[in-house]
Amino acid sequence: MSAAMPCLSPNPPPELALIVPTYNEAAAVAEVVRRVAAVLDGIAWEIIFVDDDSPDGTAERVRELARHDARVRLIQRIGRRGLSSACIEGMLATTAPLLAVMDGDLQHDETLLPVMLETLKTAALDIVIGSRYVAGGGVGGWNTQRQRMSRLATRIGQRLIRAELHDPMSGFFMVRASVIHNCIHRLSGVGFKILLDIFFAAPTPLRFQELPFTFRQRETGASKLETAVLWEYLLMLAQKLIGTRIPVRFIAFSLIGGLGVAVHMAVLWPLLHWFGTSAFLAGQMAATLVAMTSNFFLNNILTYRDQRLVGRQLLWGWLSFVLVCGLGALANVGIANALFQQGHSGWFLSALAGILVGAVWNYAVTAVYTWKK
Ligand code: GDD
Ligand code: MN
Repeated sequence: MSAAMPCLSPNPPPELALIVPTYNEAAAVAEVVRRVAAVLDGIAWEIIFVDDDSPDGTAERVRELARHDARVRLIQRIGRRGLSSACIEGMLATTAPLLAVMDGDLQHDETLLPVMLETLKTAALDIVIGSRYVAGGGVGGWNTQRQRMSRLATRIGQRLIRAELHDPMSGFFMVRASVIHNCIHRLSGVGFKILLDIFFAAPTPLRFQELPFTFRQRETGASKLETAVLWEYLLMLAQKLIGTRIPVRFIAFSLIGGLGVAVHMAVLWPLLHWFGTSAFLAGQMAATLVAMTSNFFLNNILTYRDQRLVGRQLLWGWLSFVLVCGLGALANVGIANALFQQGHSGWFLSALAGILVGAVWNYAVTAVYTWKK
């Protein structure tokens, strides 16, 4: 707050906001609040849980806590998933000058919070990071596969942000709100690597310090980081390379479309082999249907992971997808043919233009009709 303007309310506004993304952490949230309150005694803070409508009733638990403590707040997002986007929305929902992000499952050591706060306030720093990979820190009880995965992702991350960060994958940090506001439009919000996202988006290199902590074992609930988060990580990297003007879903959609070509050929080839070339038309139709179907399911699992169709929706989704992509194929062939007939562009460019128009059509129309919100 500026010195010229006195505090107008009986309670001082928060100096520090803790952002806690949650998905199925009903059993842990009360303990999180209790521990945070204990370590932040004497500081004006608030805690914002950003819950993606957890089926276990996390949001309701947080509401109960908030009825007894005005420092507890809730953002309940409907029909959305995503760790990074949850953190970003939480950070935008507060006016506190300092922001911390912490997991809601008690795996992050909250006793580091006052140390982070002191460090950030006294040193010329933009961000302090809770790190598992500096002296004094560690991961408690992770299996070797998880450790290996984490180390690989860490190495790639370090390469990309060109900062000597030991733990770029950490989800535990405290940052000046101004840093976030300065780069808010460049954050991708995809996946779960919010810290990397911030380092990427910052217009100038961030002044940071890492503080060691030991990653605790989970007491209740389960980790939500499945294999698909590796895919999200790749998408986020692709987004960084290509830029934000092209939607990341379109990149995913196109990658899967490319894979569809391989599926198509893998189906067509044995059919021609067994039934001879007279079966070309029938084989082509079968291959197209199989490729479209596999594309539909892959897109449903990967591209639209956060709004996946399930149960009966799958049937309508599949039907609309096949219809739309069928039209897309017609447009593709029609445009390529028209361009080729004009004679200005050769076969290659004509075909490429057809593919591009088809891809954009398929992407745009299925986004509206197949995976409608
Ligand atoms: N709102 C929301 N939406 N929250 C989510 C979602 C989501 O889709 N997915 C997970 N969370 C919440 C969890 O409820 C938890 O509070 C926190 O985000 C971390 O999720 P975990 O599922 O517990 O992740 P982890 O313990 O396996 O991974 C942690 O360590 C990684 C480093 O290896 C996290 O801190 C990661 O951010 C970190 O990269
Ligand atoms: Mn966890």
